[in-house]
Amino acid sequence: MAADEEGLTGPDEARPAPEPEAGARPEPTVEPPRERRPEPRPEPRSVPELLLGRPPMARPLPSFDQDAAPAAPGPLFVDWLATALDAGVLDPQAFTLSTVDADGMPDARVLVLRDVDAAGTGWNFSAAADSPKGRQLADHPAAALTVYWPQLGRQVRVRGTVERAADLVAAAEFATRSPAARASSLVGRQSEPLAELTEYDEAVAVARRRLEAHPDVVPPGHAVYTLWAHEVEFWQGDSERRHVRLRYTRTGPVSSPDWSRTLLWP
Ligand SMILES: Cc1cc2nc3c(=O)[nH]c(=O)nc-3n(C[C@H](O)[C@H](O)[C@H](O)COP(=O)(O)O)c2cc1C
Repeated sequence: MAADEEGLTGPDEARPAPEPEAGARPEPTVEPPRERRPEPRPEPRSVPELLLGRPPMARPLPSFDQDAAPAAPGPLFVDWLATALDAGVLDPQAFTLSTVDADGMPDARVLVLRDVDAAGTGWNFSAAADSPKGRQLADHPAAALTVYWPQLGRQVRVRGTVERAADLVAAAEFATRSPAARASSLVGRQSEPLAELTEYDEAVAVARRRLEAHPDVVPPGHAVYTLWAHEVEFWQGDSERRHVRLRYTRTGPVSSPDWSRTLLWP
């Protein structure tokens, strides 16, 4: 940082000293006492230091009347999603998808939720089947889906088995995507090492030209997945730790609309 940015040069120091008169003996110069500058605020150095005095959810949060909850999780999720949108939650459709790899090692990443059926049984998202998550789902077709909406202190947790939808479904979903998203999907190679960003830009330019020439092209790896939930938990946070948790458990076979409800200890 330059000296003047640090406040080292004050207005008096900046003024030039008066020229001595001709023949006059120069006055001995006395260094003015240096002003003690306040110590600069130390840069935060650790995570605990950064988070000190910032407890999560220390704000008024909505209540959750679990007795009034619907029989199935679908309508409650739609209600909570609408409330999140009204509350200005950014990207409320973003959720964390957790999977396990062939060695049983967990993995997780954020994706976008495409749809949930009326009962809250089938949760849809799209992804590249040849990406790490696609391969993990092929090897081990089970996953967890988690969303957190901070403004409301609300979390939704879903666990279940995962099924890849028919190619026709994936093609229909692909047609709804933006040109940028389609070009990116067409490029593929998701999560492979990339030497230079320009390499990606060139591949996207080629993909865009291909899409212009063949608007109906769908990358073979583009997949729509349905997570068939066997458990859906609604979690309403509370600044006093009186969190209200309601878990729905599917009582019938996969895609059954029948659920039981259980209140959980916070
Ligand atoms: C807000 C947000 C939304 C995202 N949506 C998607 C998505 O819908 N599909 C997708 O494949 N990746 C999406 N991503 C990127 C993924 O988080 C991830 O980087 C990518 O899918 C590669 O994951 P993988 O290596 O585990 O396969 C999104 C990331 C963010 C932050």
